[in-house]
Amino acid sequence: MYAVVLTFAATVWSAGLEAGSAGPPPFSDYAATARYVVHNNDWGSLASISTHPPFNGKPFTNVFSVSDGPVGNGTGVLYFFVSPLDVTVQDLAVNPNASLSMSEVESGYCTSEKWDAEDPRCAKIVLSGKIVTVPQHETDFAKTALFSRHPIMAEWAKIQTHKFYFAKMEIENVFVLDFFGGGNIVSPEDYYNANV
Ligand SMILES: *[C@@H]1O[C@H](CO)[C@@H](O)[C@H](O)[C@H]1NC(C)=O
Ligand SMILES: *[C@@H]1O[C@H](CO)[C@@H](O)[C@H](O)[C@H]1NC(C)=O
Repeated sequence: MYAVVLTFAATVWSAGLEAGSAGPPPFSDYAATARYVVHNNDWGSLASISTHPPFNGKPFTNVFSVSDGPVGNGTGVLYFFVSPLDVTVQDLAVNPNASLSMSEVESGYCTSEKWDAEDPRCAKIVLSGKIVTVPQHETDFAKTALFSRHPIMAEWAKIQTHKFYFAKMEIENVFVLDFFGGGNIVSPEDYYNANV
């Protein structure tokens, strides 16, 4: 009896936490969940089609530090600070199609719920599209977005030989798996217009 009451109290408490601004959106709001995971991640795994032996022709995933805006000001646009010396960037010069995978694990929420990374409730997001150079008028924002969350990038910018530049993904597809029953496709329009 005691245990039942305690369990109930704990459920109400955690439901209250989820409703708070710090918690994730309801799982059924797939667009908002995608934006939440993107904004609360500092990195993701980016897959390109490899042009480098022995991986050529195969998907090649590589870790990239990303930002969609300063903390509290996410835009949904994924910005990267990359160098042409990077093997993935060389792949993208041949084929700009890429997919980025991110997990809600990064925010600490899944761990606090004791959910394994592969638990369907621990949100997984895959965004795909083309990686392009950030246009001149947008570089100030890309720089603020990235350098505010990855201060070391200011040092990378000084390494002349590496020729780091700002890139972003032109998102074409969004896949969200955040509950039992399989994944969901979110249109880029719904993703950018999500209520976050
Ligand atoms: C978010 O962006 C707005 C408009 O550019 C700015 O006024 C505000 O200070 C920013 N807030 C944060 C937390 O960066
Ligand atoms: C990139 O993906 C698009 C489909 O979104 C496809 O039409 C195009 O051929 C691909 N580009 C290359 C270089 O494979």
